[in-house]
Amino acid sequence: MQLLAVLLALLPLGVSASVVKVNSTCTVVPVGKGGDDGPSILSAFAQCGQNGKIILDQYYSVNTVLNTTGLKNVSIELSGIVQYTPDIAYWSPNSIFLTYQNATTAWLLGGNNITLYGGGTIDGNGQVWYDGLKTIGSTGTAGGSSTTFARPVPLTIFNSSDVLITNITYLNSPFWNNFVYESSNVEYSFITMLSASYSNNSASNTDGWDIYRSDHITIHDCHITNGDDCVSFKPNTTNTWVYNMFCNGSHGISVGSLGQYAGETDIVSNVLVNNITMLNAQNGARIKVFGGNPSPNSTAGGGMGYVKNITYSNFFVNNTDFPITTNQCYSTDAATCEAYPSKVTISDVHYINVTGMSSGAENATVVTLECSEPCTNFTATGTHLLPPSKFGAPQYLCANITSPVLDFNCTAP
Ligand SMILES: *[C@@H]1O[C@H](CO)[C@@H](O)[C@H](O)[C@H]1NC(C)=O
Ligand SMILES: *[C@@H]1O[C@H](CO)[C@@H](O)[C@H](O)[C@H]1NC(C)=O
Ligand SMILES: *[C@@H]1O[C@H](CO)[C@@H](O)[C@H](O)[C@H]1NC(C)=O
Ligand SMILES: *[C@@H]1O[C@H](CO)[C@@H](O)[C@H](O)[C@H]1NC(C)=O
Ligand SMILES: *[C@@H]1O[C@H](CO)[C@@H](O)[C@H](O)[C@H]1NC(C)=O
Ligand SMILES: *[C@@H]1O[C@H](CO)[C@@H](O)[C@H](O)[C@H]1NC(C)=O
Ligand SMILES: *[C@@H]1O[C@H](CO)[C@@H](O)[C@H](O)[C@H]1NC(C)=O
Ligand SMILES: *[C@@H]1O[C@H](CO)[C@@H](O)[C@H](O)[C@H]1NC(C)=O
Ligand SMILES: *[C@@H]1O[C@H](CO)[C@@H](O)[C@H](O)[C@H]1NC(C)=O
Ligand SMILES: *[C@@H]1O[C@H](CO)[C@@H](O)[C@H](O)[C@H]1NC(C)=O
Ligand SMILES: *[C@@H]1O[C@H](CO)[C@@H](O)[C@H](O)[C@H]1NC(C)=O
Ligand SMILES: *[C@@H]1O[C@H](CO)[C@@H](O)[C@H](O)[C@H]1NC(C)=O
Repeated sequence: MQLLAVLLALLPLGVSASVVKVNSTCTVVPVGKGGDDGPSILSAFAQCGQNGKIILDQYYSVNTVLNTTGLKNVSIELSGIVQYTPDIAYWSPNSIFLTYQNATTAWLLGGNNITLYGGGTIDGNGQVWYDGLKTIGSTGTAGGSSTTFARPVPLTIFNSSDVLITNITYLNSPFWNNFVYESSNVEYSFITMLSASYSNNSASNTDGWDIYRSDHITIHDCHITNGDDCVSFKPNTTNTWVYNMFCNGSHGISVGSLGQYAGETDIVSNVLVNNITMLNAQNGARIKVFGGNPSPNSTAGGGMGYVKNITYSNFFVNNTDFPITTNQCYSTDAATCEAYPSKVTISDVHYINVTGMSSGAENATVVTLECSEPCTNFTATGTHLLPPSKFGAPQYLCANITSPVLDFNCTAP
């Protein structure tokens, strides 16, 4: 007990931080009474973020952007609750801008050899953002398209290597739950996620993960209920494994969208998605790539690159609109896409044991593989997909797929 030293560091603006530091372990003490625990959390990372341990074992209310970068050999025990305030006026201009799709984040976590674990919760207080999106409005396709309404990502792994995030619950994210940004060797496991709206305004854009410019990412054994992609492989995601996932209410496990920005090259390769249960979803195994665009400055298609070596195996769907879908004219009108086919090529895509039932939203159609430039080396084995019985026999639609080897009879749309 005599070794305990209570550190009350006086921070700018007269905010006091409370951290108990014992050797290299920092335990954050809540300030209570609705006060902001952000400064204390920042202080703990500053003191124990290298070769140390941070303990977050209480309820913390956070109204300060967390920039905890430059960490090394640190374990973060989150057995309590980190809850962001629902303060749109604070977070919109202050959350950290990450450029890609105008995303912003409330917590930028970065460094080498980081473990975040402990059974605790990150609560994004999303309801105000779900409602605000409708009442205040968004001016772009994504998070920080304005400084008056920018929905922050609760946790971004930034410029990091060797990170493990395990046994954490995410509640009601304002936007994407996780952003993996310019990182390698990041593993997520035993994550429980629930982003659901209590009003008529849906939990929009609450992707489980968005991976960007990152390599060797693994996500497994997670239970997700959300309102957009369960996992999304954004530009330059390579060597990535996603397995043993339960996804409910999502928009699928998605490559893309890619090719959004003219002049950019987007690559997604070597992705293995295995043992997935996908329920009540818009899509199952999905690839979405923009068409071309005549403008050299387009932010709605015209980018270059490739999608290569993608496998979806042992993928069970139920009540899903598009169980298997590849669309190379994503968010591009048909006439533009025909005149300007996509410059992101798609090859070596394998569907193994994709089974279950569609929702019937597309009537009898259970597969759509539609390319604007020829897509090559598509295979499907062990496919057993049915629409609800009233729609009769399943239909499979293919366009511009060169010599596919499929175990179903795919016809022109
Ligand atoms: C803190 O470090 C000192 C010196 O290495 C050690 O004697 C002590 O046991 C450590 N205290 C705790 C609680 O680990
Ligand atoms: C985050 O903190 C690091 C280290 O202090 C600093 O270099 C960086 O500019 C900060 N980033 C942002 C977006 O504030
Ligand atoms: C990673 O950090 C942990 C402390 O969290 C430490 O025990 C371990 O030795 C570090 N690993 C390497 C390879 O440095
Ligand atoms: C999650 O953490 C809690 C609290 O430490 C622990 O009881 C539980 O066993 C952990 N679960 C997993 C899957 O690691
Ligand atoms: C990002 O925001 C700007 C306005 O600040 C907007 O012009 C642009 O279209 C947005 N980009 C995306 C991808 O939403
Ligand atoms: C498939 O994933 C589920 C979790 O969604 C897990 O319970 C099951 O054991 C996994 N099956 C195999 C064969 O690994
Ligand atoms: C993706 O990687 C390629 C090859 O390294 C590079 O040319 C391109 O600029 C990268 N694209 C993005 C969006 O980072
Ligand atoms: C395809 O991707 C998987 C998953 O990353 C990898 O194991 C395999 O080696 C890749 N195949 C080729 C030919 O690169
Ligand atoms: C593209 O952007 C450049 C630089 O901002 C500008 O000079 C050019 O006029 C733009 N071209 C089109 C077609 O919008
Ligand atoms: C699929 O969902 C329907 C309702 O949408 C349900 O009746 C059926 O039992 C489910 N089947 C399986 C195998 O989960
Ligand atoms: C596909 O399913 C069959 C039958 O259940 C199984 O034997 C086979 O191992 C599965 N293929 C893969 C790649 O998991
Ligand atoms: C489904 O079939 C109905 C009746 O033929 C038709 O009106 C509707 O447009 C079809 N929906 C789709 C998505 O094709």
